[in-house]
Amino acid sequence: MKLGIPRERREGERRVAATPDTVRQLTGMGLDVLLETGAGTAAGHSDHDYRQAGAEIVAELDHGALDILAHVRPLDPDTAAALKREAVAVGLGSPSSELPTVQALADNGVTSFALELVPRISRAQSMDALTSQALVAGYRCVLEAAIRLPRFFPLYMTAAGTIPPARVLVLGAGVAGLQAIGTAKRLGARVFANDIRPASADEVASMGGTFIRLDLETAEAAGGYARQLSSDAGTRQRQLLAPHVAQSDVLITTAAVPGRPAPLLVTREMVQGMRPGSVVVDLAAESGGNVEGSVPGQDIPIPTADGSGQITLVGLKDPASAMASDASRLYAKNVANLLALMVRDGALALDFDDEVVAGACLTHGGVVRHQPTAALLAARTGAAATARQDGAL
Ligand code: NAI
Repeated sequence: MKLGIPRERREGERRVAATPDTVRQLTGMGLDVLLETGAGTAAGHSDHDYRQAGAEIVAELDHGALDILAHVRPLDPDTAAALKREAVAVGLGSPSSELPTVQALADNGVTSFALELVPRISRAQSMDALTSQALVAGYRCVLEAAIRLPRFFPLYMTAAGTIPPARVLVLGAGVAGLQAIGTAKRLGARVFANDIRPASADEVASMGGTFIRLDLETAEAAGGYARQLSSDAGTRQRQLLAPHVAQSDVLITTAAVPGRPAPLLVTREMVQGMRPGSVVVDLAAESGGNVEGSVPGQDIPIPTADGSGQITLVGLKDPASAMASDASRLYAKNVANLLALMVRDGALALDFDDEVVAGACLTHGGVVRHQPTAALLAARTGAAATARQDGAL
């Protein structure tokens, strides 16, 4: 069976879905691995490395000849339509924002697996790309802040005087937030953090941070995820956070609520209350933003309230892709480990009684199996039909 690894086509994407190490794992499963020339270059792997590991290098993948396609970014609808019926596609799916591709995958009878849908159970931890890529992003966002801050992170006691440590505030203490706390701590900053899940207080402390308790309702939903705060509670959270934001040299925001746009935690006014030179990094910029006015991929100068200086508001974009080597190393392992559940002796053996296989499946047999995505598509189709009817009247 032929497994294809493409050169990622989306602008700015530097990761790759297989490394030479996982090519060995995949060929060990009995698969023939075809890799587009240059697919691993930005992640530090040459065609030669892949060939040595057992891959065949091709100029362009012939999608119609593949049994399995493993990718990083969601496919485009044309690629989904070019795959042969009953082929398997494995990669990030972003289903709610890639509905045309999901429809094309279903229409074409492709069995697609979205790594975001892998259930977060112990057995599937080695396939959990949300976690592996959030770890990279959490690390990266601290470095992005440190390089822009006109101050040290650590305490320095020198003959020329003492420099106090920077104060870092992390909002949202999930996988990325905890990694940000640990990274800022290792750089020597004093680190504070807040989250609305009660369990996060101990996790923050275990990474060396100080948890900021706010007089607020907790908001934990099933599976240990956050739920959306009510509008009043959100307003109160912003009021309670304002003085903590104002005291910080660096603010890092990583808050997310599954299936919803990122919650707004910090207003422009709160940012303007910070000292001149402070840095704000919004890791949620691509999913709606935790900070008012953040734009993915842009540094925006915000004047302080008294006009004496400015704060830099960084909207992070593709942070995991910026660390393509290690991000790919982890991602490729996630992909290979998921495929190991589906391949027996070089042939596909899909077991939908396995909760990981069933949970990660986006489309199969011409149907969108992931119910929230199927509902979104149905709503879209209904709205289009209504618009057609209205137009006809
Ligand atoms: P996420 O990316 O969905 O959200 C990031 C953080 O934002 C969460 O900690 C959430 O509580 C927080 N948040 C949401 N609204 C907020 C608000 N208004 N103010 C402050 N913080 C807010 O979360 P992630 O990183 O995916 O982790 C979510 C949960 O899943 C955690 O409990 C984590 O421990 C758990 N998890 C379990 C895994 C497993 O069992 N295999 C693997 C990874 C995570």
